Amino acid sequence: MNAIQTLQQYIDESRRIVFFGGAGVSTESGIKDFRGVDGLYHLKYKYNPETILSRSFFLSRPDEFFEFYQDKIVQPTLNAAPNIAHKTLAKLEAMGKLTAVVTQNIDGLHQMAGSKNVLELHGSIHRNYCMKCGQKYDLEPVKNADGIPKCQCGGTIRPEVVLYEEPLDETVITKTVQAISEADLLIVGGTSLTVYPAAGFLDFYNGNRLVVINLDNTSYDSKAALTINGKIGEVLGQITL
Ligand code: OAD
Repeated sequence: MNAIQTLQQYIDESRRIVFFGGAGVSTESGIKDFRGVDGLYHLKYKYNPETILSRSFFLSRPDEFFEFYQDKIVQPTLNAAPNIAHKTLAKLEAMGKLTAVVTQNIDGLHQMAGSKNVLELHGSIHRNYCMKCGQKYDLEPVKNADGIPKCQCGGTIRPEVVLYEEPLDETVITKTVQAISEADLLIVGGTSLTVYPAAGFLDFYNGNRLVVINLDNTSYDSKAALTINGKIGEVLGQITL
């Protein structure tokens, strides 16, 4: 059996699949990842993206934060559409075979593809709020802002995105741990698995069918029952549902 046939068999035999993914899931939708060959981390920029996307940088230099955030994070997502990986996962959930998509992505493409139970470990660009009065906003005021997006009350509107130095949401953590610990098949894809605590949630998997689909090698490859070095859309697109 080749790798795709093995993956097909795993999927056919599973009823509580969990998918755990990252930026590589959206590269086939035209959004750059962070650490891949064409990723944001290889840009020649004044600061390292991990510095810019940190709480202390956001608080001390909001103008520079929003310049980067608008340009490199928000704008590339505006015309992006879900690819076959997002769509296949949504279909698996609709078939009652997949219980959760756990994602480090903040682009909302899984929901756009139709996925319902999406656990967004790092938040979403689509949810925003005023830091002064708490008023909630969608992406509109942020994507249209020239500089720092401002609320009517004068406060700064910030994305509900988890920055470096900020904790993950407790409810999302609880749901993630529960979904992964109850999974019969865990498919991990499009993530370098280098950012914690997110990557550490894989350790809650109790089954023996861990599948890693990634262009580059990851530190979890040695624990996987199946590793596929390829594009996640191309791989999941070969699965018959
Ligand atoms: P990374 O950019 O670290 O990793 C993306 C991985 O996906 C790389 O290993 C690529 O080789 C792989 N890849 C790219 N395109 C692919 C494709 N079409 N099919 C399969 N694999 C592909 O992204 P994440 O692991 O998501 O956090 O990064 C984790 C976090 O680091 C992000 O959520 C973000 C970032 O800093 C915050 O901003 C808090």
